[in-house]
Amino acid sequence: MNEEQNQFTREAWQKNAAGWDEKMGTEGNDFFKQLQFPTILEYMGFSTGLPLLSKKVLDIACGNGILARKLATLGCKVTAFDFSSNLIDLARGYGEVGIEYKVLDATSEQDLGSLEPAIYDVAVCNMALFDIADIDPLFSALPRILRPGGFFIFSLLHPAFNNSSTIKMVEEYEQDGKLINKYSLKIDRYLGQYSSLGLALSNQEHPQYYFNRPLQYYFQLGFKNGFIIDKFNENSLEHADTKRALSWGGNFAEIPPVCLVRMRLDG
Ligand SMILES: C[S@@+](CC[C@H](N)C(=O)[O-])C[C@H]1O[C@@H](n2cnc3c(N)ncnc32)[C@H](O)[C@@H]1O
Repeated sequence: MNEEQNQFTREAWQKNAAGWDEKMGTEGNDFFKQLQFPTILEYMGFSTGLPLLSKKVLDIACGNGILARKLATLGCKVTAFDFSSNLIDLARGYGEVGIEYKVLDATSEQDLGSLEPAIYDVAVCNMALFDIADIDPLFSALPRILRPGGFFIFSLLHPAFNNSSTIKMVEEYEQDGKLINKYSLKIDRYLGQYSSLGLALSNQEHPQYYFNRPLQYYFQLGFKNGFIIDKFNENSLEHADTKRALSWGGNFAEIPPVCLVRMRLDG
């Protein structure tokens, strides 16, 4: 792993913590509300409408604790961690009960080793694996941290369509006497792993690294560590941000900017 990039990313999230909290608050942005949270709830078995009180959940890279709070409200006992102490302070500021917050680095075997073994029914990582400089230590630690048969649920910026090489395009042409706008994506990198500076929020002051990996990287790392995949979704927004013709949804409603995976420890 590139320790320098990991430190740079931590410093960026430290500096962007207040802006991130302001944007996400308690309800989150459209991506959280429409593309991630409903599918995470479905994967956790909440679709029956019954709170699963016994669920013990580990929220990995929890940011301002938005997901941890929602799950705690539904009756889960949550341990949530992030490597940005500023984000953890902001998360604690919401004062929710039923959540234990920790400052831990998901790339550190030592930090992951401090988590109690075999007590979690579900580990969840919402929109963060591509922010983590090295995810191998996390995948190696999960079989110890989860109870047998436990689940690992994660969402990603779709590695095939929404990666650091993605360019959104609009072209204008005439067809059958009509003027047509064609919206499409140009992508020139997918299979290789690479990092690139980017912005999680459009008005973000300090860029952070994105760690681009193809889908097979996540899947194969799961298989290697004893997981099977039993759910997979590719989600797209129906409606675009009306102020931006090239925003996700709307003209790009056929393209999923986000995907979600549920892995289960086999056996
Ligand atoms: C896009 S935010 C997502 C936050 C939260 N999961 C949510 O759904 O709002 C990515 C988060 O990953 C965290 N992060 C990045 N690298 C990390 C690492 N090595 N260990 C722990 N957290 C990390 C950042 O501090 C940030 O809070």
